Amino acid sequence: MDKPLLQVQHLTMEFGGLVAIGDLSFEARRGEITALIGPNGAGKTTVFNCITGFYKPTKGMIHFTNHDGSEFLLERMPDFQITAKAKVARTFQNIRLFPGLTVLENMLVAQHNKLMKASGFLVLGLFGIGGYRQASAESVELAQYWLEKADLMDRADDPAGDLPYGAQRRLEIVRAMCAGPELLCLDEPAAGLNPKESLALNELLMDIRSNTGTSILLIEHDMSVVMQISDHIVVLEYGRKISDGDPAFVRADPRVIAAYLGVDDEEVETVLTDVGDAKVIEQLDTAR
Ligand SMILES: Nc1ncnc2c1ncn2[C@@H]1O[C@H](COP(=O)(O)OP(=O)(O)OP(=O)(O)O)[C@@H](O)[C@H]1O
Ligand SMILES: [Mg+2]
Repeated sequence: MDKPLLQVQHLTMEFGGLVAIGDLSFEARRGEITALIGPNGAGKTTVFNCITGFYKPTKGMIHFTNHDGSEFLLERMPDFQITAKAKVARTFQNIRLFPGLTVLENMLVAQHNKLMKASGFLVLGLFGIGGYRQASAESVELAQYWLEKADLMDRADDPAGDLPYGAQRRLEIVRAMCAGPELLCLDEPAAGLNPKESLALNELLMDIRSNTGTSILLIEHDMSVVMQISDHIVVLEYGRKISDGDPAFVRADPRVIAAYLGVDDEEVETVLTDVGDAKVIEQLDTAR
């Protein structure tokens, strides 16, 4: 059988005395959407930062296998090589677009490296050497392809900062897709979205999963997104794994329900409704 795309083994990340991630092992399989969930401060973003080379883990291994069989130990690689060689792309918890550039320009900047190579590093590009034009046309085509998918073509010439929030999120995702990643890591893409935007996001992610070679690792608090689109869910609490399985398994796991009872009081009911635990909601109601 195919080796899993991502194998995180005994990953530990300490900040001074704080253990942000403690002995975490999990896998993300090719062609799947794997969700990483857990209460605030559980260590989810830190896992992303280790996978993408922003942090050097205190201990552990992050084994990555591309579709062509090439293998990488991500914890030993600098971030730019993780992007370029292993082909891991990410988005951030806070949107990082160029708000003053147009939507299309944001898509082209993402392909900057390819353009630079084709243009003989800028100077030749200025003279419009054929290779530059070629790459440029290709890049525009690729940008248009993904803008269509994200339902953003009609906004291509507008500044990215003028788009509604949900559209900006989708733009970030398709911008990352221009690099043709093997793994796309999304840090809370549904945060702050309204239900319609959340649905559009779900559709885009399902499309990526089904129609490209890109697998997805998703950090998300919005359970309507997580439960609907994930093939596999890993649950963290205080940097440790407390559950790992398919959505049906995880939503019924008492450890998960207990972990979510630890969230702010006003969020408890939403979370329980989202994970669909009617019995616990009933108990809460009678306890009032
Ligand atoms: N660079 C850092 N220096 C010190 N502590 C850090 C650093 N990065 C993260 N932490 C700590 O590690 C823990 C995990 O943080 P992390 O951001 O990974 O959580 P999270 O699960 O992404 O939370 P949220 O859902 O709020 O985004 C927190 O206690 C956080 O304060
Ligand atoms: Mg986070």
